[in-house]
Amino acid sequence: MFDFTGKTILVTGAAQGIGKETAKGIVQGGGHVVILDINETIGNTTKNELGNASFYKIDLGDCQNIRKVMAQILSDFDRVDGLINVGGIISKAQFEDISDAEWERTLRINLTGTFTTCSAIYPYFIEKKGGRIVNVSSVAGKIGGGLLGTAAYASSKAGVNGLTKAIAKEGGKYGISCNAVCPSFTNTSMTKSLSEDPEKNAKVIGMIPLGRRAEPVEIAQMILFFASDAASFVNGEIGDCDGGIVLD
Ligand SMILES: NC(=O)c1ccc[n+]([C@@H]2O[C@H](COP(=O)([O-])OP(=O)(O)OC[C@H]3O[C@@H](n4cnc5c(N)ncnc54)[C@H](O)[C@@H]3O)[C@@H](O)[C@H]2O)c1
Repeated sequence: MFDFTGKTILVTGAAQGIGKETAKGIVQGGGHVVILDINETIGNTTKNELGNASFYKIDLGDCQNIRKVMAQILSDFDRVDGLINVGGIISKAQFEDISDAEWERTLRINLTGTFTTCSAIYPYFIEKKGGRIVNVSSVAGKIGGGLLGTAAYASSKAGVNGLTKAIAKEGGKYGISCNAVCPSFTNTSMTKSLSEDPEKNAKVIGMIPLGRRAEPVEIAQMILFFASDAASFVNGEIGDCDGGIVLD
């Protein structure tokens, strides 16, 4: 659907789910995708399935590891045109049950991990005079959670929205754009427990004006638009891809 001919795009969390569909779209658009994920087995299977792809193991919860892997990628490839941050984890504990460790881990992987990949590539994009960053957030970051992810998750994703706007504001002068996509209930392993509970599933579907959950490819399409030249003047947009839950 979007043209990525000759481009190399990094996608975190691309072993499966929304990230995998995004990676697929880049290859289908003629680009090379670099899959970054903590899951080596699934990551390599996805790499082999997609063809024009590479795989690097990364732990988004470990800043030092992120900087090391990003530096390796920038030295291995002649050019990198975009960074798409999809990797993340859910946190489902009710507020009264959130431990300090749960809070810290959720913020570290979802928010600090996103900050660190952006920070690691930013000087390269400045030197290159441009680059497109897309962060995958969540409706939870706008409405205080409530579908599956709770306070720690919602806070991490609200942070991603703030980070996205800040990078858009500061990076614009270097030709760097930064946008975010906020999905709602999407059919991936992250939401398996919700899909398999008929009562909760019906409750959540009832909140979605389109009356169904999304397939991962439907989220990937919006991510790919933001990552492509078709969105050349779009910067700092927090785009809802949620079947109509957030009407702002
Ligand atoms: N599925 C939904 O309903 C939904 C809704 C809103 C937002 N999101 C967001 O979309 C993104 C993708 O979620 P998904 O539904 O495809 O989930 P998923 O669990 O299918 O995929 C997440 C990927 O991130 C990787 N990952 C997890 N922790 C990591 C770490 N520490 N380091 C590196 N990689 C790591 C996993 O291995 C996996 O490949 C997430 O950021 C999630 O918060 C999902």
